[in-house]
Amino acid sequence: MDDSTRKELTAWLEFYQELGIEGFYRRETVAVGAPPSPASAQPSEPAAAPPKQAPPREPTTGVATSAPRPAALKPATFPTPPTMVVRPPAASFNLFEAAPAPRTGPETLERIREDLGDCRRCKLAPTRRNIVFGVGNPHAELVFIGEGPGADEDEQGLPFVGRAGKLLNRMMQAVGIEREDVYICNVVKCRPPENRTPEKDEVDACSPFLYRQIEAIKPRLICCLGAPAVRTVLGIKEGITKIRGRFYEFGSAKALATVHPAYVLRNPREEKILREDFEKIRDFLKGR
Ligand code: URA
Repeated sequence: MDDSTRKELTAWLEFYQELGIEGFYRRETVAVGAPPSPASAQPSEPAAAPPKQAPPREPTTGVATSAPRPAALKPATFPTPPTMVVRPPAASFNLFEAAPAPRTGPETLERIREDLGDCRRCKLAPTRRNIVFGVGNPHAELVFIGEGPGADEDEQGLPFVGRAGKLLNRMMQAVGIEREDVYICNVVKCRPPENRTPEKDEVDACSPFLYRQIEAIKPRLICCLGAPAVRTVLGIKEGITKIRGRFYEFGSAKALATVHPAYVLRNPREEKILREDFEKIRDFLKGR
């Protein structure tokens, strides 16, 4: 082997080694027309041919690999091409499929749910029964955002199905809004123990999925039910009773803050303010 071929081969081997490919063997030279030897006909390990025209694909995440490409990228002209034996790391995984493909196309709720997976990103995961992702029309004009699932929601995996949900349904009905037409979700998708208010780290872990849901649905109006939703969506820390009933900008949508139905259940005299805000929602959607 001449010096330049040796150098080129070394560069390729180092490159593959950086990628975790260490086993190589040299295929027997097979004369044209001669029958293949048993070894080359039935390789005991998965084998891949060396790159012919182009060097191996780079991971497609935009994240740089630590493996520098060899200086010479033109295909080497080996007297007998070496055949790689790829030894995948631990679990069987395809070296070039390990990096997720870049996402193209519009954001969808299915995709977001898939990315959420069997979420373990925060400390709510061990005590939840079900992830409560959200439910409703994926193209809703109106999205309701609550605080977090309670016991009934955790049990059923659906938002606002307990007492607060019944009140929400009644309010919608009162102003002629159908539940099937809207989308309903929460700031956090797992039940906080004892129905406590979600903590900052939990909201931080979960809110990117909420923002993506809003982005996928592209509603005209977001209704924040209670302080945690107002804080998460609008970044407003003022008391809910001060800011309720007002419309805010949220990108190309509007957001309205109102009291949480659970607050009304505890303070039945406040039902009228919730009703008042629902009338504002109706008027907004009707373009009044
Ligand atoms: N309260 C919420 O904030 N969300 C629910 O889903 C149920 C009750």
